[in-house]
Amino acid sequence: MINLILFGPPGSGKGTQAAKLVEQYELVHISTGDLFRYEMGNDTPLGKLAKSYIEKGELVPDSVTIGMLKNKVDANPDANGFIFDGFPRTVAQAEALDELLEEKGTAVSGLLSLDVSDEEITQRILLRGKTSGRADDNDEKIIRNRIEVYKNETTPVFDYYAKAGKAQKIDGMGSIEEIFGRLCAAIDAL
Ligand code: C5P
Ligand code: MG
Repeated sequence: MINLILFGPPGSGKGTQAAKLVEQYELVHISTGDLFRYEMGNDTPLGKLAKSYIEKGELVPDSVTIGMLKNKVDANPDANGFIFDGFPRTVAQAEALDELLEEKGTAVSGLLSLDVSDEEITQRILLRGKTSGRADDNDEKIIRNRIEVYKNETTPVFDYYAKAGKAQKIDGMGSIEEIFGRLCAAIDAL
C-alpha cells in the first residue's frame, strides 16, 4: 500500500495535483475539505457545524475531522492506498492517522509539501474564487486567516513527519504539468 499526504498551504495546488495522481497511481483521494463541502451542500448537521468554522477560515475540531476521515478510510477496504489532501492539518490529526493506518497494518509512505509563496497562493485562491463558489475563497480577510492557521497549526505536521524521515518539499511554482512531474519523481523514489 502507498499512502501519501499531499501537503501545503491553501491554494498550493493539492486538489489539482491529487486529481492527477489518483489516476497515475490508482489511489483513493480523500480531501477532508471536499467532504466538508459535500456535507455543507446537503445541509447536514456535520455540514452546519463545519460551516461555522470554514466561513471564518478556522479549523474544524480534531475529533470531528478525525471521525469523518476514519469513516472514509473504512469505506474503502480494498484501496491500493490513499492520497490524503488537506489532512492532517494538526499534529493530533497526524497522530490519529498514524494510529489508524497502523491498525490496518500500513503507514504513511511520505508527505509531499507543495512549496508556494504567500503572494502566489493568495492570487491563486482569489482566481479560484471566481468559479469555485466558495465563500472562503472570495474574502481576503478569510484567506489571510487560513494562511495564518496553516503557519501556526499545520506546519508542525511537516516537522512531525520530517522527524520520521518521511517529509519532503516539492517546488510548487510553475505549470501544473511541471509540478506533477516533480511529484511523480518523488513518489517513484519512495
Ligand atoms: O482543504 P481545504 O482548503 O479545502 O479546506 C477548506 C476548509 O475546511 C479549511 O479552511 C478549514 O476551515 C476546513 N478544514 C479543516 N480541517 C481539515 C481540512 C479542512 O478544518 N483537516
Ligand atoms: Mg483543496
